Amino acid sequence: MTITEAIETRHSVRQFTEQAMDEKTIAELQKTIDECNKEGHLHLQLCLNEPEAFQASKPHYGSFVNCRNYIAVVAGPDQRESCGYYGQKIVLASQMLGLNTCWVVLTYKKGRAVYQCDPDEKLQAVIALGYGITQGTAHKSKEIDKLCTAKGEAPAWFQAGMKAASLAPTAMNQQKFMISLDGNTVSAKPLISLVGNTDIDLGIVKCNFEIGAGKENFHWAER
Ligand SMILES: Cc1cc2nc3c(=O)[nH]c(=O)nc-3n(C[C@H](O)[C@H](O)[C@H](O)COP(=O)(O)O)c2cc1C
Repeated sequence: MTITEAIETRHSVRQFTEQAMDEKTIAELQKTIDECNKEGHLHLQLCLNEPEAFQASKPHYGSFVNCRNYIAVVAGPDQRESCGYYGQKIVLASQMLGLNTCWVVLTYKKGRAVYQCDPDEKLQAVIALGYGITQGTAHKSKEIDKLCTAKGEAPAWFQAGMKAASLAPTAMNQQKFMISLDGNTVSAKPLISLVGNTDIDLGIVKCNFEIGAGKENFHWAER
C-alpha cells in the first residue's frame, strides 16, 4: 500500500478484533514513533495490551469495542499542531501496516490511560489502534472549494493536496480549516469552532495536504 492509498482507505475504526500485533509490526510502528518524537520534539508512546482506557463501565458505553492498544499523544501545551501533524504520520504508517486507527480526544477514560508525562507535558489525545472488525466508512466531506481559496488557476499539485486534506480526520468531522494558495506559498488556518480547539486538526490536515501535494511543489506561509 502506498501512502496515498493509506490516505484514501483510512477511516476511523472503533471496533477491533482479538488479533494481536506481531513483533515485526510493533518494531516498525515503534521506529516511526521514535522518528516522529525526534523530529517533532514530542513524547508519543505506544501502549500495548492496556484495555482500561477504553473499557466500558456500562454495556454499550461509548462506541469502542475491544480496544486494547493506543498511542498516547503526550506533549507540551504549545505543541498541539505538531501532535496532529506527527500523530497523523503514525496513523498513516499504521494503515500501511494493515492496522486501523481512531483519533480520540473525548471518548476514553483519561484516568485509566497508562503513559509517562513530564511536568511540562499533557496527554493531548490518544490514537486507538488495532485490527478493525471493518475498515470503517468514508466521512461526509465539505466540497473542496469550501475548504480552500486560490489566486488564479489552482495547479494539479494543489488540487491533489486538497483532495488529501479533505480526507483527513477532524474532531467531530468539523473540517474547520481553510487552505489558501498564493504563487507557490500555501497557508493553512483554523476556523472558529464552537466545540473546542482545532490545532490538532490543523496539524493532521497539513500532514495530509503535504503528502498529496508533494513537499517539493510549495512552501508553507509563515504563521
Ligand atoms: C482531534 C480529533 C479528536 C477526535 N475525538 C474523537 C472522540 O473523542 N471519539 C470518537 O469516537 N471519535 C473521535 N474522533 C474521530 C472523528 O469523529 C473522525 O475522524 C471524523 O468523524 C471523520 O471520520 P474519519 O476519521 O472516518 O474520516 C476524533 C478525531 C480527531 C481528528
